[in-house]
Amino acid sequence: MSRQLLLATRNPKKLEELKRILAPLIEVEVLGLDDIPPYEEVPESGATFSDNALLKATEAVKHSGLISLADDSGLAVDALNGMPGVLSARWSGSTRPEVSRDDANVDLVLEQLADTPDERLGAAFHCAVALVRPDGARVVRLGVMAGRLIRERRGGNGFGYDPIFVPAGYEVSSAELSSADKDAISHRGKALQAIVPDLLAALDG
Ligand code: IMP
Repeated sequence: MSRQLLLATRNPKKLEELKRILAPLIEVEVLGLDDIPPYEEVPESGATFSDNALLKATEAVKHSGLISLADDSGLAVDALNGMPGVLSARWSGSTRPEVSRDDANVDLVLEQLADTPDERLGAAFHCAVALVRPDGARVVRLGVMAGRLIRERRGGNGFGYDPIFVPAGYEVSSAELSSADKDAISHRGKALQAIVPDLLAALDG
């Protein structure tokens, strides 16, 4: 029987990214939550990205019996004391049907920074990836992409806060980078790369 690994997500882009990273390294079938019988997902109630990633991976193992990975990520803005942080996805709390949640979140962050001088617009994307094994062993790896915010949206790639985020050392926003270029420097790409040795050990063990 071939080895299997569950990534606790329904996001096909995240599944593809993990498959791309693992393909040259190990023979493993990567499954997503849509590939296993459905279960009630826990709310992301943790105080940190690591807590939330562990929560999701632990639930995934409990319901699947498979080695499971989960990630949690978000934007930390210096001038907002690290917020939106773990609340990034639902920062605006918007239910306006005519505005996408990403757009409403970006609008709110820009509004909150209206009086902050440009030189204090530092921010970073953070990602925690948790690996939990059926025997209970667990590890979390972190990735960060530092940068600064801009007040006008730029670029059509990516999602979330990408159009107003310029990575350190770049002049373009992360929504102007191709997905391959973004993966190479992104918080998620770094956290996934960092957990690969743990994953190889878990799958071989
Ligand atoms: P999740 O970890 O995929 O649930 O992402 C949490 C939220 O953080 C997303 O809904 C986005 O608002 C934000 N976020 C996380 N990673 C990125 C990124 O790479 N670009 C833009 N926004 C991001």
